[in-house]
Amino acid sequence: MTTLPAPSPILLPAPLGGTLVHRVRRAGHDFDLAELTGLPRLELSDRAFADLEMLATGAYSPLTGFLGEAEYLSVIEHMRLADGTPWSLPITLPVSREAAGAYTGRVVLTRGGEAVGTLDVQERYEARKALEAREVYRTQDPDHPGVAALYAGGDVNLAGPVTLFEVPRGAFPRHHRTPAEVREVIEARGWRTSVAFQTRNPIHRAHEYLHKVTLELVDGLLLHPLVGTTKGDDVPAKARVQAYEVLLDRYYPRERSLLSVYPAAMRYAGPREAVLHALSRRNYGVTHFIVGRDHAGVGSYYGTYDAQEIFSAFTAGELGIQILKFEHTYYCQSCGQLVSPRTCPHGREHHLVLSGTRVREKLRAGEPLPPEFTRPEVAEVLRAAYAAQD
Ligand code: ADX
Repeated sequence: MTTLPAPSPILLPAPLGGTLVHRVRRAGHDFDLAELTGLPRLELSDRAFADLEMLATGAYSPLTGFLGEAEYLSVIEHMRLADGTPWSLPITLPVSREAAGAYTGRVVLTRGGEAVGTLDVQERYEARKALEAREVYRTQDPDHPGVAALYAGGDVNLAGPVTLFEVPRGAFPRHHRTPAEVREVIEARGWRTSVAFQTRNPIHRAHEYLHKVTLELVDGLLLHPLVGTTKGDDVPAKARVQAYEVLLDRYYPRERSLLSVYPAAMRYAGPREAVLHALSRRNYGVTHFIVGRDHAGVGSYYGTYDAQEIFSAFTAGELGIQILKFEHTYYCQSCGQLVSPRTCPHGREHHLVLSGTRVREKLRAGEPLPPEFTRPEVAEVLRAAYAAQD
């Protein structure tokens, strides 16, 4: 009798920089809370806390902390860390000029006054806001939400390695997984290829189309909604995650889909953010990443496919994750299905296209969403979420 060769082990992509950063240190276990007595304390914004988690859990590997000045300038000007590793968005900790002088040595990071981590301050330097806005956001318009957040932040960046005391799983305990934990699931399910889907909007039919076309090609789908801070009029993360739960239950293959939240804040930096989204998903262990129309864009600051074109600045080897680019997808009344300019011969008048802004207007007005745009189950979750706001 011949024996079959053992299946080869699942090889997930190596994290950027080679090792998954892990800087979670449990109080009372890895260190004594008394060590923090008397140290300067810094209250984190929502965005900074999200960055702290991304850094400490390895989602931003190879970064181990907030960027120093040389790395900051290199990222802004060259989309690379000083050693050449691709990196597209500066991860910084801005504080006011007045407060900056108090932060030296080890600083305790707090949320609502509670210690959540530490920063070992190695540098304090001037934020180059105009340069950062121009190069990273491609605009200095203060109406751009990312630029507005940049200008509203402090003028001095603190830099150095961080630690996080506990992964904050409070809001979505069932779906909150660190990169190491997502990697475990991928291995356990035996996905040799997998695709991550970044999203900050409620799931609609075009999203589902991208998921399912991709599932024809790869083994597993990581649905990875961003649940960090978004601009005020975006649909709240709770409703978006709930919509995913409903759809997954009814329309997605259970063993080939994984819903997990992505804790980062949204920057709306379009192309630059698409690169960060992809590199970070590599750290979560997936092999492919979807970039559709106007990825991470807002208003009309970016061209429809700028976020796809930017990837040509890097080689496939540098990225270490394959980018799956999709053209604008919508429902065509004449085809009777989801299509894109690549698959449909009909003109605009046959197509049902609704912008995110228009969808939100309809929801606020209590108007129904067309079933060709959003599945009724999702429309119901969104309707209830908006009704509860009133
Ligand atoms: S984003 O800010 O996270 O990019 P959104 O949740 O709307 O916003 O999009 C998630 C992903 O789906 C992005 O890659 C985006 O480019 C893609 N996408 C969204 N809508 C469409 C569409 N109608 N056609 C093609 N791609 C789309």
